[in-house]
Amino acid sequence: MPRIGIIVGSIAQNSINRTVANVLPSLVADTEVEFEFIDISALPLYNYELDGAWPQEATDFKAEVDAVDGIIIVTPEYSRSIPGALKNALDWAARPWGQNSFTGKPTAIMGASISAVGTAAAQQHLRAILGHFNAPTMGQPETFFHFSADAFGADGSLQDGTQLAILENFVTAAVAHITQFAPVAA
Ligand SMILES: Cc1cc2nc3c(=O)[nH]c(=O)nc-3n(C[C@H](O)[C@H](O)[C@H](O)COP(=O)(O)O)c2cc1C
Repeated sequence: MPRIGIIVGSIAQNSINRTVANVLPSLVADTEVEFEFIDISALPLYNYELDGAWPQEATDFKAEVDAVDGIIIVTPEYSRSIPGALKNALDWAARPWGQNSFTGKPTAIMGASISAVGTAAAQQHLRAILGHFNAPTMGQPETFFHFSADAFGADGSLQDGTQLAILENFVTAAVAHITQFAPVAA
């Protein structure tokens, strides 16, 4: 049973990317797939001087990344890049040196913005980081989700059929990618 971690790149309580990410698990018909949200909001700023005596939040975060077969990252774009909070989380995951939790971890990325072209620049930066990590990263479908609050019901469900199809296409491909590239347990 593949276990898939979902990381939202925003720590805003009313994050539009969280709103979108919350829809993804419901679009997977396969009940054998387990999704688990991995929170990055409690992480302190990474500092290599903490190596050897990590704060519990960082140890827990790294263990959560290690425990899943693959990761979906749903991120906003801040100032034409990824949010600092997401970069910080990736820095924690990359350490200690030689123990990068993303190495070999199949990963799929998408992002939501209120702008029509939003998150394209952020996703390119994220791809560069994941390439450096040697994380097999899904190439297609590239998903730049155009967020409109009107498309969501009060219960968080997405009402727009076209947008639902975009998300379903993404998460179906992400599950297939992670299943294909997940390391086989010995
Ligand atoms: C510091 C900051 C920088 C932003 N820069 C961009 C940007 O470069 N491109 C973009 O599409 N939206 C940008 N936005 C707008 C975000 O897309 C919008 O705030 C969105 O709600 C962020 O996603 P979130 O709610 O999941 O955090 C920026 C927002 C903030 C707070």
